[in-house]
Amino acid sequence: MGAPPKLSLPDLAFIESIAAACAARRPSRSLRILLLGVTPEMAGVRWPRGAVLRAVDRSLPTIRDLWPGNLPRKRAVLCADWRALPLRKFSCDLLVGDGCLSCVNQPDHLRAIAAEARRVLRPDGLLVARSCIVPASPEGIEAGIAEQRSMLREFFNETPLSAPPQTVKEGCPIFVAAPRAVQQQRNAAGAAAASRGVS
Ligand SMILES: C[S@@+](CC[C@H](N)C(=O)[O-])C[C@H]1O[C@@H](n2cnc3c(N)ncnc32)[C@H](O)[C@@H]1O
Repeated sequence: MGAPPKLSLPDLAFIESIAAACAARRPSRSLRILLLGVTPEMAGVRWPRGAVLRAVDRSLPTIRDLWPGNLPRKRAVLCADWRALPLRKFSCDLLVGDGCLSCVNQPDHLRAIAAEARRVLRPDGLLVARSCIVPASPEGIEAGIAEQRSMLREFFNETPLSAPPQTVKEGCPIFVAAPRAVQQQRNAAGAAAASRGVS
């Protein structure tokens, strides 16, 4: 299996445009971005002025090899597992990653990451994740994309923003998703029922 293609200039421009739109919606405070992994191209995106980027990866050797370095009040890396993020609830406006969903093979692992992503993401935040699908056959690209979409839909709604069409065709779509409000309400109702002893 070859390495996934590097993020292209249109990919990066697309991600930058989403970040700029998020920052424009909340001009009074800095955008808080969480990068899942340490993909250098992601760290080097032209994030909006004042944005603070934190990156999380569980592999110290990878961090040492790839992380372009911390910058005071601008970007920092943490060594931790995405299934137990050392971050407070609703502490991020934007979650970004390259291959952060497609590099995980087990559905339970993927669900745990999606649940943590939703916990730390503000209800008005966005997840922007590029996934490279490596199919066993050409038809497998569509099946792979559909599988990731269906997992994401447990926790997120895909937004009307779509990835550059070429990236979808090539099997590296950029998913843009917002936390799923209905699910949130269900969880809240479930928790309330549990606290009253209702099953
Ligand atoms: C983000 S993925 C893909 C990186 C690169 N952009 C690519 O497409 O090949 C690879 C990184 O994910 C990290 N990783 C995988 N599962 C993780 C988890 N549960 N928690 C933290 N880091 C994880 C690995 O340590 C590795 O550095």
